[in-house]
Formats: sequence, C-alpha cells, structure tokens
Amino acid sequence: MLDDRPRLYLATSALALAAFTCYRKYRDKQSGPPLPPGPTPLPILGNILSLDVARPWLTFNAWRSTYGDIIYARLLNKPVVVINSEEVAKDLFEWRSTIYSDKPQSIVYEPFGSDFNIAFMPYGDRWRLHRRIYHQAFRQTEVHTYHAVQLCCAHKMLLRVLQDPSEYPRHFEMFNASVVLSILYDYDPKARDDPIIHIMETYADRVVANLTPGPTVILETFPFLLKLPKWFPGATFKRASLECLKAAHDVKEIPFQIVKERMSTGVTTPCFVADALNRMGRLDNAVITSAVKEAACIAFAASFETATSTLLVFILAMVLNPDVQAKAQAEIDGVVGKDRLPDFSDRPALPYIDAVLRETLRWHPVAPFGFPGATTTSDTYNGYFIPRACQGAITHDEKRYPSPDEFKPERFLHEDGSLTSDIMHLGFGFGRRMCVGRHVAEASLWIAMTSFLAMFSAHKALDEHGMDIPVIPKFSTGLIVFA
Ligand code: HEM
Repeated sequence: MLDDRPRLYLATSALALAAFTCYRKYRDKQSGPPLPPGPTPLPILGNILSLDVARPWLTFNAWRSTYGDIIYARLLNKPVVVINSEEVAKDLFEWRSTIYSDKPQSIVYEPFGSDFNIAFMPYGDRWRLHRRIYHQAFRQTEVHTYHAVQLCCAHKMLLRVLQDPSEYPRHFEMFNASVVLSILYDYDPKARDDPIIHIMETYADRVVANLTPGPTVILETFPFLLKLPKWFPGATFKRASLECLKAAHDVKEIPFQIVKERMSTGVTTPCFVADALNRMGRLDNAVITSAVKEAACIAFAASFETATSTLLVFILAMVLNPDVQAKAQAEIDGVVGKDRLPDFSDRPALPYIDAVLRETLRWHPVAPFGFPGATTTSDTYNGYFIPRACQGAITHDEKRYPSPDEFKPERFLHEDGSLTSDIMHLGFGFGRRMCVGRHVAEASLWIAMTSFLAMFSAHKALDEHGMDIPVIPKFSTGLIVFA
C-alpha cells in the first residue's frame, strides 16, 4: 500500500498555484522595493533542477550561505520566497499573521472535491468555523481524553508487528487509521478491507491524482473543459471531476451517517462528530452540520499520511543510529521495567524518548514545505518585496541545530538530562494555519514509538552470511515525504 501510490502531487500543485498567485502579483508590481536575492534561474526551468525535492533543506541551506535567510527562487515559471530562519518565519507568519494566513485559490478545488478542505480554504469565516470545531476537540487540554484509545491501538500495533514484522509500514498505517477513526467517529476499523478506510483512501487517491500541476494549469486556462458533457469525446476532466465529487460525497456522508444513526437511537458514544454536534447544539443547522462532517473527514486526510510517514522516519533513524535506540530502550527499561508496557503516565520520566520524538520531527520533516500559503496583500519585509512565502530550511539551520543532518536527540536535552524548552513545533507549521492536530499527533507518535521500543528493535536486514545489508535511505517527493 505504501509503495505503489504516488505521494503528493498536491504539493506541487499547491506550490504551483501559490506561486502563480504570487507571479501575478509580481507581474503587476511595476515599482517599489526589490525582490529578495536568490539563485539565477535558467530560462523556462527556473531553479527547479537545483532543488532536492525530498530533502529541500539541503538546497535551501546551500542557497542560504550565499543569499541569506530570505531567498527568491523560481520553480519553472513559479516564483517562491523561501524563509530560512525561524525568526523571520515568526515575524511573517505570527506577527503579521493577518496577511500571511491565506491560501492560494483555484477554480479546480470545487470540481475536484477539495473546496471543503481547510488546508486550502481562504482565510475567512468558513475557515474560522472549521478551525473552531477542530480547536474545541484537539486543544492541549483535551488531548488526555484520547490517551486510552491511543494506548489500545498501540498495543494492537505491537501484536501485529509481532505476528508479521516485515509488514511494519502497514501496521503503522493501521495504528494511525484506528486512532483517528476512533477519535472522529468512534469507529474501529477492520485490519483488512475496511469499508471506511477504503472510502477515505479512494477520496485521497482521486483528489491527489487530479490536482496535479498539469491538469490544474490546463483547467485554469481553459475552464470551459469542465462544462463539457461527460459523454463528449475527450471530456476526461469532466469525468474525473464527477468521480472526485462522488468520492467527496461518500467520504463526507458515509462515516458521518454512522454516527448520526447512533445518535438518533439514543446511543451516545463520545467522538469528534457527536461532540461537535452536541456542543454546537444545532443538528438541524445545515451550515454547522456540513462543517462538522467536512472537518471530520479532512482530519483523517490530514493526519493519516503525516503520522504514518513520521513513524517510518523514526524507524529509519533507529536503524541508522543503533546507539540512540539502545539509549532510548535503556531509559524505558529503567523506568517501566520488563513486566509491563509503557503508558502515558510514564512520559514525564522518559525525557530521552521525547527528545527522540522531537529529533524525528526535526531531522526529516514529513511536510518540509509546510502547506504553501498565500498573502492577502503583498508585503514588504527588511526592505524586500514579499509576494508570498514558504517555509525553508528552518529545521536544518546550522546556527540553531549544529550538524543538522545528524540524528542527535541530545540537542533537545540539558546537561542534566531534562528537556529543553524547544518543543519542536517547526514540523507543524507556523502562525494561524499551524497544524491544529499537533497535540493529538504528538501523543500518538509518542505512545507508538515508546511501545515499539519497549518490545522491539529496528535493525539492518542481514544477508545470507549474517552480514548487515547497507541501508540507503530513499524518500518520496511531494508535500508529505515518505521514507
Ligand atoms: C505527524 C503528524 C502531523 C504533521 C507532521 C502535521 C503537519 C501539518 C502541517 C505542516 C500543516 C500545515 C501548516 C501550515 O499551513 O502552515 C498542518 C495542517 C493541518 N493539520 Fe496537521 N500534521 C500532523 C497531524 C495532524 C493530525 C493528527 C490532525 C488532526 C487530527 C491534523 C490536522 C491538520 C489540519 C486540519 C490542518 C490545516 C490547518 C489550517 O489550515 O488551518 N494534523 N499539519
């Protein structure tokens, strides 16, 4: 399941759209402050050939040494301003968040079933409503209410790894799917061929296959193609759009109806959907009802691949750094012992594990560009014209994280072994569009990693002579990067 699906194409498309918006603003700008410095673009290709798409921080760090923390580059004909320092990112995304909280818009979102995805929504009332629904469920003070389900799913994951270790990526997927479906709908998916997981995956696959840069640019240029009747020869976009809309309908309605039916029979098991509807007290309010069902299915989409990918990066880090793994396991053994499995009450006594989690998020962020944003108006910063900005090599800033390519959890620990105040929120974005599920995600990742290390070790595979087979890390490209 992990290897044969192209992973993230939305990224390129969203980057392209964001950049297109920026380009238009740039083109319209005839005078005023200069754009930031940056590498000289090639004709047509721009700087695309220099960009390591899976590990963009390598390219951004190389550019930083010449051009500084704010860099202007062009990917094909799309300009981007890359922000390479946390200080600048905070200045723009947090201090000027009213300007930097928008998202680029496109006429393809609605026909391809993506206009209800909060990550693509313009900064406005609809986004605020969705964000409020998420915030009420996922804010830090609520996170403990999900611990029981996260622990239970972690134990099931351990059993599956024990039975079939070679399928560990699928077990991580199942862990994340089970946690999030349980939180959202109080739904316990089957390990194989689950109908709700199938609906969620079908929707993601359809959207992802269609919101690629090629079709997006064609449809933005010739929007009438979407108006052709579906039987018309060559009306591929129209047919793809109808498939996407059907998948979007299913993903919103089918799991939602399961909860609604339970509620109508008086069986009230708490979950995101039931709680949101009860809390807002307006089951008959069409706007609220739509927002809740949309927010629920998008939470699955936003969490499933990001969290699974982070666990795969963790396994890679353990394989490549056996000393770190041994130290983490020694900490668990010392605190938890060998007679039981870890639980959330152990967390304060396991600072090294938290440092491993933070370092995993820093070492190979799974959403290295963030989700591309847009500005409501163009801006000037440090004398430069900023039409639009994206996150650069902040997690690999050598000044802040020396030897940034090395996996060193110690960078998050004081000499006495206690955790520093660097909570490594960088992997979750900045400002008002920062990941709203980060506290839930962190708890899931923590219990999955700690439980795994308590029972298993990740090692290089051995050849027929019992020798280690070298590991050559490979990463997919896209918005969500997979190890
Ligand atoms: C390891 C796991 C995760 C990672 C690395 C991650 C990362 C991110 C990033 C980088 C963003 C974009 C922020 C921006 O636009 O600047 C984001 C947005 C978002 N995330 Fe997460 N995320 C994770 C898990 C989750 C979970 C578990 C949920 C929900 C339960 C979630 C829900 C969302 C939503 C709804 C948004 C859109 C927020 C908005 O546009 O206002 N994420 N996430």
